[in-house]
Amino acid sequence: MLDRLYHEIDTFYEDTPLVFGDGNRQAKLLLIGEAPGKDEVALGRPFVGKAGKNLDGFLQVIGLAREDIYITNVCKFRPHKISEKGRVSNRPPTKQEIAIAADFLLKEIGMIAPQTIVTLGNTPLRAVLGDFSANIGAYHGQAQPVHVKGQAYTLFALYHPASIIYNPPLKTTYEQDLGRLADYLSNTNKK
Ligand code: URA
Repeated sequence: MLDRLYHEIDTFYEDTPLVFGDGNRQAKLLLIGEAPGKDEVALGRPFVGKAGKNLDGFLQVIGLAREDIYITNVCKFRPHKISEKGRVSNRPPTKQEIAIAADFLLKEIGMIAPQTIVTLGNTPLRAVLGDFSANIGAYHGQAQPVHVKGQAYTLFALYHPASIIYNPPLKTTYEQDLGRLADYLSNTNKK
């Protein structure tokens, strides 16, 4: 089913290089990022390179291995811009790009059917909630019920680790939230 969905996405985006989800398709925990970057597109895998290092830290704190969880992104393509000199750099996905990608993501969530959905930053939070006015500041660091296409899940929203680079005071909050996620997973036997 998942392969058929990925084929559908591939057809939709035509010749755009895409990075699909990766990991344990029976996972209890689904981790959702924003979009692949340069390294991810080069290797065809989400959260590698610098983001992969952040992921290792995340896994260590919650006591799981990469193979235990499923990892995907809202956008399967790399949103990018090209400067006049021809330099390619990342840019945030537009509202319209997110809305289109969210349609596919919600189907993907139903196919993995995890117990817990962990979102990193505003983009996956908004895509999962179907609410563009939702803000990570109001949601982070706590387990909350969410319905996706009529199915019940637990949502645990975290700041995106990359946002710490632009806002260093967030580091403490991110670490506290991650500790709370680890406690939640252990206490509820949701690993
Ligand atoms: N790499 C990903 O695959 N997703 C992100 O959100 C960031 C880096």
